[in-house]
Formats: sequence, structure tokens, C-alpha cells
Amino acid sequence: MNQKVIMVTGAAGFIGSHVVDRLLSSGHEVVGVDDLSTGSEENLMGARKHKLFEFANCDITESNFFEILVQRTRPDVIVHLAGLVSVERGEKEPMLNYRLNLHATQLVAEAARKFGIGRVVFASSAAVYGASEDLPLSEKSARKPINLYGSAKGLSEQLLAGYVRSYGLNAVALRFFNVYGPRQDPSSPYSGVLSIFVNRLRKGEPITIFGDGWQTRDFISVHDVVSGICMAATCEDVASGDYNLCTGRSTSVIDVFNELRLHFPKAQDAEFGPERAGDIRDSLGDPTRAKEAFGFEAEVSIGEGLKELLES
Ligand SMILES: NC(=O)c1ccc[n+]([C@@H]2O[C@H](COP(=O)([O-])OP(=O)(O)OC[C@H]3O[C@@H](n4cnc5c(N)ncnc54)[C@H](O)[C@@H]3O)[C@@H](O)[C@H]2O)c1
Repeated sequence: MNQKVIMVTGAAGFIGSHVVDRLLSSGHEVVGVDDLSTGSEENLMGARKHKLFEFANCDITESNFFEILVQRTRPDVIVHLAGLVSVERGEKEPMLNYRLNLHATQLVAEAARKFGIGRVVFASSAAVYGASEDLPLSEKSARKPINLYGSAKGLSEQLLAGYVRSYGLNAVALRFFNVYGPRQDPSSPYSGVLSIFVNRLRKGEPITIFGDGWQTRDFISVHDVVSGICMAATCEDVASGDYNLCTGRSTSVIDVFNELRLHFPKAQDAEFGPERAGDIRDSLGDPTRAKEAFGFEAEVSIGEGLKELLES
């Protein structure tokens, strides 16, 4: 194996901390960066004990600490996962969304350009497709974001594509679909429908399904997303561009509820609330491009993934 130095921004977050663990267990050296705004030290407890792990508590958008860190550590790859993941908060605080989901990407790209970093892998989102009804969504489907979060992620992709054209940067944008798994914060209301359900069922609290429950999503286990990120970061040649990280399978919210209910026989029936403004009806991705480019294939079924979530 070709050992690399990999910088991971957002290292203490839900997805980032799993990426750090996987890279370390594969023998890579990891420089984790996080300001602990939504991430937590606890997620890095295992990594902290590892001799190939260095952690920097830093806001990448403040001062030039981040740039100095890149200059000092000279990673082979920067995996840029730091961002504002809450769509709702992005709508309420547009400047924060801009700073974390677009400006931060510019700073990462700029540091990569200045110090000749080989590759940037960026956490984009299926939110860039927004209202596109061209299911399954492939990378050729139109970008039609319906919120500021999706707009900033789409603009970040375009910004990175500009660095590819102008400076020859190798930039890989991965569009994650609905990620779930251990360490996801159930207080995040948009991305964590599965962890919210589990959390409420454990406490014996009622579940509210917004809309009729037949809306569908391409739910992907964090372990599959981590595999995709690590493949994109470490495979020898990965062409710059945008890639879906999805399963290619759709599951309705009702299906998820029924599956979970098997484990909570005393749970009450779900309550139904009004459809949430801005929610899309169906989302399903086509994973072909990522498979062809770096061999990615989702392996965890929704049943297995939910079981793991319940046991975590
Ligand atoms: N969870 C999902 O379903 C999903 C779907 C699509 C895309 N994404 C993207 O994946 C990435 C990771 O998401 P997550 O679910 O792990 O969220 P998360 O909130 O758990 O992780 C984000 C991490 O970034 C850190 N961070 C935020 N701003 C920072 C800054 N200025 N400087 C340094 N660190 C900063 C936070 O403290 C946190 O640890 C995000 O970019 C998100 O937009 C997530």
C-alpha cells in the first residue's frame, strides 16, 4: 500500500470521524482539522491514541492558521468535509452558509494551489439536484438547488472546476445522498431522519412523519460513504469532476418506520404532520460514474444499516 498524508477537514464530525478512523486503520497518516462547532472530541477518541494522527482545532475560515497548517504538513490529499450541514440553519443564517459551504471551499482550493497539493476531495451533496425530477439522478442531471445549502454546494463544485481548468488542480466532488449511521447527531433535523426516529423510539416518544410518508430517499450508510471518500482520496488516478455517492436504491419513510418498528413492538403508530416546505418528494441517485471511476459500490443494505444504528 502506498502510504499517504491525508488532511481531513471536519474531522470531528459524523462523517469525518469515520473517515479518519478508516484512513488510520489503512495505514495512512492523517491531519484532522475541526473547530468543534458541530463535531465533538468524543468522535476522535480512538484516533487520538494513534501515532499517525495529528489534530488541529481550527476554524478554516478564520486567520491564516489553516494555510500555515497546509504549508507545514504538505498533505498528498485534502478531504474537505467541514461545512454547515443543516439546511434550515443555512436558510436562517445565509452568511454562515456562505462562509462554511462556499468561502471555506475557496480557501481549501487556494491552499491546495499554493502548496501544490495533489488532490482535493470535496463533500458535495445531492441537494445540488434540488428540484430535478430526472430520476435516477445522474451527474448529467441538471443542478436545480432549492435552498441556499444546495446552491453553495453547487457553487463550490463550480469553483473547484475553475481551479481544475486554470491551475490543473485534481478536484473530486462527491455528492452524498442521505447519509445515516452511528455518531450522527439526532438534533440535526434534515439529514438525520433515521437517527431522529431511532432516538425517539428509544425514549418511547411518538414519531411524526411529515407528509404522507411515501416520499422516498436514497439512504446510504456512513460506512459506504466512507469507502467512497477513501477510494476517491487514495486511488492512483481519479479524474476531476462530480460523482454521486449513493446506493441506487430508494426507500420510503414509511418503510423505514415499519422496519424500525419490528425492534420496538410497543411503539405507537406514527403521527402524520403537514408536508415540510421545501422538501422534495423523491430522491434517488445513479452510482454508475463512481463505480467506473474508482470502483465504488454501496454494500450495506438498509436493514443492516438500521440494525447497526439500533445497536450503536
Ligand atoms: N450527513 C449527510 O447526510 C450529508 C449529506 C450530503 C453532504 N454532507 C456533507 O458532508 C460533510 C460532513 O457532514 P456531517 O454530516 O459529517 O456533518 P457534521 O456537522 O457532523 O460535520 C461537519 C464538521 O465540520 C466542522 N466544521 C464546521 N465548520 C468548520 C470550520 N469553519 N472550520 C473547521 N471545522 C468546521 C464541524 O465542527 C463538524 O465536525 C458536510 O460538508 C456536509 O455538508 C452530509
